[in-house]
Amino acid sequence: MSDPFFHTWQAQRGAKGLELRGGEGAWLETASGRVLDFGALVYQVNPGHGHRRIAEAIAAQAMRLAVAPPNAVYPEKRELAERLLAKAPKGFTKVLFTLGGSDANENALKIARLVTGRYKAIARYRGYHGATFGAVSLSGDWRRQAVEPGLPGIVHVLDLDPTVTGTQIPRVMELEGNVGAVFLESVVGANGVLIPPKGYYEEVRAACDRHGALLVIDEVLAGFGRTGKLFGFEHWDFTPDMITCGKALTGGYGTLGAVLVHERVAERFEEHVLACGLTHHAHPIGVAAALETLRVYDDEKLVENAAALEPRMRAGLLALRGRFPEIVGDVRGLGLLFAMELRLGDAHRGPKEIRAPEGFPESALVLSPPLCLTAEELDEGVARIGRALAKVA
Ligand SMILES: Cc1ncc(COP(=O)(O)O)c(C=O)c1O
Repeated sequence: MSDPFFHTWQAQRGAKGLELRGGEGAWLETASGRVLDFGALVYQVNPGHGHRRIAEAIAAQAMRLAVAPPNAVYPEKRELAERLLAKAPKGFTKVLFTLGGSDANENALKIARLVTGRYKAIARYRGYHGATFGAVSLSGDWRRQAVEPGLPGIVHVLDLDPTVTGTQIPRVMELEGNVGAVFLESVVGANGVLIPPKGYYEEVRAACDRHGALLVIDEVLAGFGRTGKLFGFEHWDFTPDMITCGKALTGGYGTLGAVLVHERVAERFEEHVLACGLTHHAHPIGVAAALETLRVYDDEKLVENAAALEPRMRAGLLALRGRFPEIVGDVRGLGLLFAMELRLGDAHRGPKEIRAPEGFPESALVLSPPLCLTAEELDEGVARIGRALAKVA
């Protein structure tokens, strides 16, 4: 008998969840023992598990003010918005709070339409932007194909696919006409950790400016220190028009996303209605989690730790490639977001319908440990991966 709730992204019969009991730092307690978490529970628990300060901030908020309507003003909401804008590039003046990453992208898409009056958007095949209808239409992988036809007007480009070099965006934008927005993950996460080359975003930015399109950078996965900078796009030299956030914004401790909006976009809504809103907009529990999490990033220097551990992670994974050259392919990453391409053969591949198409890496092991990871824990994790590869070999 299957569970009385749906497991996501899979058929239900025989589906098994991860039986969680708790955790501390980089370690998880599961029903079958202690696990060194090299996934940060889908890229969200950047501050680590069992973080008392964050849990206590949530508890204190719950006792003080647990519920607020979308139009409420309360101190933590204001402080969180101010802190986020202070961390964004110069010129960002507004935050729209959402419930997570999908609806952050959903709302950025609506804002782009409201501001430009255009419904077309460009995104990458090699990208994921969420599961709600607009966000999944922007996504490029099998999750979009599963529910097509999606939103009209969304055009995908092959940027970052191994079959092309450089960007197709300027040309596609010219040929399409009327493009209102470009949605890009700063560093592609779940589709295999793809890092755009030097100069890439500067070229895309210039094309958007020529065309009058807004550039939306999705930091839901890459943001909050994952790549060794607070936002992934800071590895390049350009300013987006909107930045979408989720996941590690709260360290995973609350349900909250955000769209950070540049003044040149936000100013439209001084006189025009912002046709966006959610009942749980800026929910106090999510806000309290995010506010304390942002303080923890600063106090515990977690972004700096991710940057400092990058060479050690790269060296460890390259050593595994040296030991298992027939299994391990390309190794790439930034900060504490790494991918190791694996050639595992049919026995280790997923169901046919979710397999990567021709030309996509057969399977990439994506690594994203909590940013509180120590050097010793990193070595231990790499050693464990090595033992798993030895079994496959
Ligand atoms: C880059 C990116 N954008 C958006 C989303 C969607 O976020 P959520 O699942 O919180 O709605 C994800 C989730 O995996 C993501 O990786």
